[in-house]
Amino acid sequence: MTSHLTRAREIVSTLTVDEKVRLLSGADQWNTEAVPARSIPATSVSDGPHGLRHQAPDEDHVGLDSSDPATCFPTASALGATWDPALISEVGAALAREARSLDIDVILGPGLNIKRHPAGGRSFEYLSEDPILAGRMAAAMVNGIQSQGIGACLKHFAANSQERDRLRSDSVVDERTLREIYLTGFEIAVKESRPWTVMCSYNKVNGTHASQHRRLLTGILRDEWGFEGLVMSDWYAVADRAKGVAAGLDLEMPGSSGMYDHEVKAALASGALDQADLDTAAARVIALALRAAAEREAHADDAPADPDAHHALARRAAAAGSVLLSNDGALPLAPETDVALIGAFAETPRFQGAGSSQVNPTRLDTALGALEERLGGRLTYAPGYDAATGETTDALVAQARRAAADADTAVLMLGLPGSYEAEGYDRDHLRLPHGHTRLLEEVIDANPNTVVVLCGGAPMELPWAHHARAILLAYLGGQAGGSAVADMLLGDVEPGGRLAESFPVLAAELPSHDNFATHPTQALYREGLYVGYRFHDTWDVPARFPFGHGLGYTTFALDAPRVSGRGTSRTVSVEVTNSGDRAGTTVVQVYAHDKASTLHRPVQELAGWAKVALEAGASTTVKIAVDERALAVYDVESASFVVEPGEFELRVGLSSTDIRGTVTVRVSGGATPAEVPAPAGPVADDAEFAALLGYPVPSPAPTLPFNRETTLRELKLSALGLGTHAVIRRMAGKQMGLADESDAVGVAMLEAMPLRALAMASDGMVSPARLDAFIRVLNTSTGKARRARRSQREG
Ligand code: BGC
Repeated sequence: MTSHLTRAREIVSTLTVDEKVRLLSGADQWNTEAVPARSIPATSVSDGPHGLRHQAPDEDHVGLDSSDPATCFPTASALGATWDPALISEVGAALAREARSLDIDVILGPGLNIKRHPAGGRSFEYLSEDPILAGRMAAAMVNGIQSQGIGACLKHFAANSQERDRLRSDSVVDERTLREIYLTGFEIAVKESRPWTVMCSYNKVNGTHASQHRRLLTGILRDEWGFEGLVMSDWYAVADRAKGVAAGLDLEMPGSSGMYDHEVKAALASGALDQADLDTAAARVIALALRAAAEREAHADDAPADPDAHHALARRAAAAGSVLLSNDGALPLAPETDVALIGAFAETPRFQGAGSSQVNPTRLDTALGALEERLGGRLTYAPGYDAATGETTDALVAQARRAAADADTAVLMLGLPGSYEAEGYDRDHLRLPHGHTRLLEEVIDANPNTVVVLCGGAPMELPWAHHARAILLAYLGGQAGGSAVADMLLGDVEPGGRLAESFPVLAAELPSHDNFATHPTQALYREGLYVGYRFHDTWDVPARFPFGHGLGYTTFALDAPRVSGRGTSRTVSVEVTNSGDRAGTTVVQVYAHDKASTLHRPVQELAGWAKVALEAGASTTVKIAVDERALAVYDVESASFVVEPGEFELRVGLSSTDIRGTVTVRVSGGATPAEVPAPAGPVADDAEFAALLGYPVPSPAPTLPFNRETTLRELKLSALGLGTHAVIRRMAGKQMGLADESDAVGVAMLEAMPLRALAMASDGMVSPARLDAFIRVLNTSTGKARRARRSQREG
């Protein structure tokens, strides 16, 4: 990179201001600007995190238009559940080989936002609720991608935890929580994999858009963590490009047809933007293009991607990321079992989520097809419900009951219909559709020997869990997920996943719940550090299925752990034995518990893990490094991570609640963090939250008067806006490829777009000046109407 940057700087010195400014905004949806006269090539980028969505340059960015066929791997929640850096790295390398075949230089992934609340619409696209797990898995994926000479893009930086009003919602989060929970994963991934690019998120962080957040984009990302690559915006995330460039945003994506060029030049002229910042950003855009071009040349003779091999890898990854939540011995199915396969997902699989990550798969396996092939006449099938809506009917239930009653075992495929989880909106509850739960009761009544296979990208409430003989969480298993389900049910492979996120009993128990996606312009992170198992374990509110949990088809015994090393650099060793009668894998997890902290602190936090594969009866000693950071807290006063002196318990187990042994280490020296008032419960009240923030809880930005952040939906708040809403929606919809008004994802995304983003997507039709004039008219007419109403009342 450094040599490309040096050459890029030389090129920058030969460019005009206009040329430099143009370079800082994409040429179209998927390419950067090329300047052939100066030998600057374009760089092409494409989604996404679990499969490529390669589209023509002018097509949309939200999965509405068609894309070239590509392998659809399991989505990130399943990949995270593998806890297997080597496997996710393989997936990354496969994605990169496909990118090479499609002439793509940079893959827009992985996504590693922390799952603050399971209802987040993109939970399926994210790896974990834990920053160490998310960070290390993301790093492994980036390393896999970049091993093939293709760039990766860590996204979405940062504190981007909900879909509601995502382009302007302000994530209000205290510094320690930001550092320990929301930034740590990015920090690990940046340091361990040196990604070519990072994508800033849509939202604001503590009052400032991430796209113009100098402390995040420059102070933390570059100065503290040493990031040397390029920062691009999320699509239409730029609110003020001049401020963005000054803050360290190099590239606006996609291009906004020069909409902001004038503002950037004006900022240069007024001195609000330094020439040096412009030059640096331009140099980074050029360096990326030079690097991509050099890699294209170096890999020109690479063998083309092999779709069969990638399909096989997707199948392996799907099983490795599936989690056996419960099993009383019903799985794997005994040979010669007559099976009633029930549930339309068997035929119309849920295998990915909607939005920008949507892939056009090279082929699609179904559980029905795979099981039919294997079981022949021993299989009957009943759809049980409508795959799209999840609704059932008396006739479908009666058919399912008959099938279940006539079989030895009923395999019931349930979960979240496609409309439940998508980019652009969040779920408003975690329940299964009513049709699914009704079917479940009826089928279990008809045949108690019922095994449930759950499809969906995120935690669900499962109040009926104890009624099923086994629950296999297949997540969104990608295009080979159907075959993988058959492989696992029949015992050819075991489900190798362990939960990378907790399954709560009730969403309402979560401390983030009351402040999750509840306000149009603000999200108060009052729960602070208490996300996922950090909440459940600290405040004794058990999850239904805890973080790290998963059964597999064999059992493992752990001997007493031992520890070596000194101070804050330790290695935990533990002898693991496969105590069952078949080969299998497990994930040995180490959690650190600070025995006496001066700060409020989660009772334990993941410090490391090892994925182990053992033949039946075999043993091995696993060694898990516990580094300084795993023991540290963020001390706001000294702005650094510090390890408190004293004793730490290192807890070794097979989930956050299944601890098999502990060792105690003592750290002397260290540093004592400044004392911070501790909230009395897991949800900080106003005074406690203000104390954590260090300033009064900010008031949310008002939605009126109308402004550039006003969303399309909010136009309806005024009579004039209401009149223009339909016209703008039609035009913008056309621009974004929204052919069908019943497309819930497309409509949700459009309605949540701020006016400035709509202007950016208008192909140059709406300049900032025209936009501001429109907003002035909206406000005047609303003001007039209000005054008229008032004088009518008073008169
Ligand atoms: C998403 C990004 C994606 C981009 C391009 C945005 O809506 O937030 O994750 O990479 O679109 O498709």
